[in-house]
Order: sequence, then structure tokens, then C-alpha cells
Amino acid sequence: PRPILLTRHGESRDNVRGRIGGDTALSDAGELYAKKLSNFVEKRLKSERAASIWTSTLQRTILTASHIGGGFPKIQWRALDEIYAGVCDGMTYEEIKKNMPEEYEARKKDKLRYRYPRGESYLDVIQRLEPVIIELERQRAPVVVISHQAVLRALYAYFADRPLKEIPHIEIPLHTIIEIQMGVTGVQEKRYKLMD
Ligand code: G3H
Repeated sequence: PRPILLTRHGESRDNVRGRIGGDTALSDAGELYAKKLSNFVEKRLKSERAASIWTSTLQRTILTASHIGGGFPKIQWRALDEIYAGVCDGMTYEEIKKNMPEEYEARKKDKLRYRYPRGESYLDVIQRLEPVIIELERQRAPVVVISHQAVLRALYAYFADRPLKEIPHIEIPLHTIIEIQMGVTGVQEKRYKLMD
């Protein structure tokens, strides 16, 4: 059995302001998480020479990986980028509700299928993750995946065998590592909360 470690990026400046999407750097708390994560990963994967670190192409995930040493290769996947909110990118949920109430309601009604204008739906994200999942399945060594909430909901659901309709509602907390072990007896899960 070899572990897959899933984590969101450390808290970003936009997370603090409640803005979705964007490409901001980390808050102070997010930066602290990046350091704690590097300690954890270096210890956990000490003798795992073939392990790798996968991020999205957005700077909040790249910065979250930045302190991890140990010589592990870091690979950026566009397919691991956060769900793209199209015209709503950079807005708060309050702003969407106020300025685009029909969009807000439509999303609330069917979050799985709802596609942001000029953006993506959860179904779109699930589809673009297929090559990532194929590559994850193929790996024999541990992989650390540093990505985003919507994307990790979909990845987690795949490994934990959760139904499609639950995906947009699965909670993936910040500053927590979800370790998935794939063994002959099935999938086991452990969580490590590195910060309060
Ligand atoms: O910025 C996007 C969020 O991480 C996804 O959250 O799909 O629950 O709005 P949501």
C-alpha cells in the first residue's frame, strides 16, 4: 500500500476576504500551514525516494508546496486548478447573490450541474480530472496532491467511493491532510489537522 496525501492550499488572501477564484498569495496563517506541511511531508515520506508533489498552476498551491524539501519532484497540473467561476471569478458569494440572484439560485438548486457563465461546473471539473486520476492510479510511490476545495471534493469522492450527487457538498477543511491508503483490503483514510 502506498499513500496519497490530499490537501488544500494554505489559506489565501482571497480566502480571508471571502473572494472566490483569483490567484492570490497566502495569508500569514496559510504561510504557517505551508511550513507545517513541509515538516509533515518530509517526515512522512522520508524513505520514499520516488514520491512526488503535485500542485495546480495557481500560486496558492505552488507557495504551499514551496518549503517541501527532500528532493521530491514538484509537478504542476492545470487540471488541478480550482473550479473556474467565469464572470463570477473574484466575487464574494454575497456579491453574486446581490448582483446575479438568478445565477445564485440556479447554483443552489443544482450545484453539481450548474455552470458559471463562461466558467465551469462541478461536472466539468470531474471530467477534466480524469487524466490526473489515471496517473494517480498508475503511480507506485506516494503522491502529495496540493489543490483546491472543489477539485479535492471530486478526487476524494473518487477514492472514498462517494456518490456523484454528494461531491459539491463534501467538506474538505483547510489546513488538514487527508491520507488515503489503497491496499488489497480496500481504501483506508486518516486525517491530520495541522492547525486550528
Ligand atoms: O472557490 C471555490 C470554492 O473552493 C468552491 O466552493 O463550490 O462550495 O462554492 P463551492
